[in-house]
Parts: sequence; C-alpha cells; structure tokens
Amino acid sequence: MERTLVIVKPDGVKKNLIGEVIRRFEGDGLKVVGLKMLRLSKEEAEGFYQVHRDKPFFSSLTDFMSSGPIVVMVLQGEGAIERVREIMGSTDPGKAAPGTIRNLYGDNIQENIVHGSDSPESAAYEIPYFFSAVEIYER
Ligand code: RTP
Ligand code: MG
Repeated sequence: MERTLVIVKPDGVKKNLIGEVIRRFEGDGLKVVGLKMLRLSKEEAEGFYQVHRDKPFFSSLTDFMSSGPIVVMVLQGEGAIERVREIMGSTDPGKAAPGTIRNLYGDNIQENIVHGSDSPESAAYEIPYFFSAVEIYER
C-alpha cells in the first residue's frame, strides 16, 4: 500500500474546492488516512519546497503557498502517487488533460489548486513534514 501527500493549495481553498478535490480522490478509491487545515509561514513553505530552491519561481511559489490556509492530507492506495498525479493533471492547467482537477479549476502554472508528491522519495519527505505517526490512521 502506497501513501502520498496531497495539498489543496490556497487558491483551491479560496475557490471552495476542498470537498471537490477530496471527492475526486475518494471517488477513485483512494483512502484519506490523515487530514488537516493550516497556514504555512513563508519559511515553512520554503522548507516544504526545498527541491525548488534554485528555480526562478521559488520566491513567488512560496509567497503563494503561504498566502492563505491550505488543506493537507495523506492518501493511501495501490499506486497512490501515480494515481493522484493523473487525477490532478499536469502542472500547467492549460496543458493538463481535459477533466483533470488542474484543467478544470486551475488559473495558471502557479495557481493550480492541488499538490501531490511526485515520487516515493518526495512522499517520504513530505508526509512527515505535516503529519506525525499518530496523526495517520490505518484503515
Ligand atoms: P506540485 O509539486 O505542487 O504537485 O506540482 P508539480 O509537481 O506538478 O510541479 P513542480 O514542478 O513540482 O512545481 C511545484 C509548483 O510550483 C509552481 N510552479 N510555478 N511559474 C512557473 O513556471 C512554475 N512552475 C511550477 C506550481 O504551483 C507547481 O505546482
Ligand atoms: Mg512537484
């Protein structure tokens, strides 16, 4: 069983899409095993997106991610990482496949509603960034 970290980003929360995002993943059979709402500080957003620290969009991305509350969750299922990536669609909503979350609701390459871990290594960093062991429920 694989686990992945998903975030409803500040734009998704502002657009009232928390339920819609969760519904998409639950509808595919993925299980929510951890869930919370919080607001990242700029420093916490920088820590989460460490892998992108040398990218030109790092400052803008971390401003955006700390601009309002987010919902973070751990999803579990066979092949969860890839399944989530497929349901989200590609980073740029304009290039995301029709019917994906980012295609339907994303505004631009930065404000794209949702985050999902891109590999087992990323998930292993991202899940404990937000959740302690007792906040994840075997089910
Ligand atoms: P994520 O990490 O949020 O799930 O998204 P991703 O894997 O599809 O994309 P990634 O390359 O990891 O980029 C992380 C987030 O940074 C913002 N971004 N802005 N301005 C730009 O060119 C640009 N590129 C990426 C997006 O919010 C993207 O999801
Ligand atoms: Mg990524």
